[in-house]
Amino acid sequence: MTQTILITGANRGIGLALTKQFLSNGETVIATCRVPDRAETLQTLTKETANLTILSLDVADENSIAALSSTLNDQPLDVLINNAGILSGTNPHASVLDKAPDQTLGSINSEGWVKVLRTNSIAPVMVTQALLPNLRRGQTRKIVMISSRWGAITHMDSTIPLAYGTSKAALNAATKIISSTLQNEQFVVVTLNPGAVRTDMGSQEADLAPEESARRLVKIINALTPEQTGQFLRHTGENIAW
Ligand SMILES: NC(=O)c1ccc[n+]([C@@H]2O[C@H](COP(=O)([O-])OP(=O)(O)OC[C@H]3O[C@@H](n4cnc5c(N)ncnc54)[C@H](OP(=O)(O)O)[C@@H]3O)[C@@H](O)[C@H]2O)c1
Repeated sequence: MTQTILITGANRGIGLALTKQFLSNGETVIATCRVPDRAETLQTLTKETANLTILSLDVADENSIAALSSTLNDQPLDVLINNAGILSGTNPHASVLDKAPDQTLGSINSEGWVKVLRTNSIAPVMVTQALLPNLRRGQTRKIVMISSRWGAITHMDSTIPLAYGTSKAALNAATKIISSTLQNEQFVVVTLNPGAVRTDMGSQEADLAPEESARRLVKIINALTPEQTGQFLRHTGENIAW
């Protein structure tokens, strides 16, 4: 069975690598991003395959979410991957190598923090809510949140950026609640840690190439069963403590 997978933040980094991996497996991908006209790699890919559609979505903008929902209309979706995320609300180019002074007690600013929470914690829930009718029409009913090891409360210490760490912890909590809400409908809702990945956010010093992280994540996503709903999984497939 060919699956239809919708991915947020698919124009670069892990989202783009997931798009390419699913396409190479013969799946159909709806790659969403803020500015499709500037998503050059996705635009090139659409010329090579009929299995890719690019749609506009700013996950932090409710009007944009509503417009996507209306464009999709009653199209079934099998898998939703909430991947779009930001590290900082004040520096759009921040990577994990930055010292994140805007996310340390003593200098954190609430406006930047709210922006990170809106993008990383609230938006994945709002996108999920808007696309639930499409997912209910799908066959596999999988919802994947791309989280981070930095969202695991058990690993938290002063090295974790406050806004980002709390945003991923909130995402993990939301995933747990949503997984329970949808359990009776045979949905599997999980949160995945992609590893330290060489992207704009992860920096060029990170362990994993985006292609390797995506290969591992796709393997996990394809094998998910409803019994795994509510789990927090590492890119290697092991459970992570909250
Ligand atoms: N890289 C790592 O080591 C690592 C580790 C743990 C978790 N993660 C998580 O993995 C996910 C992907 O990260 P990445 O490393 O691929 O980061 P990245 O290279 O910085 O890419 C981030 C993606 O999110 C998109 N995005 C940000 N805000 C958005 C919005 N409001 N609406 C739509 N798209 C938005 C970006 O789009 P634009 O191009 O329009 O900005 C871009 O496509 C994130 O959730 C991140 O927290 C990454």
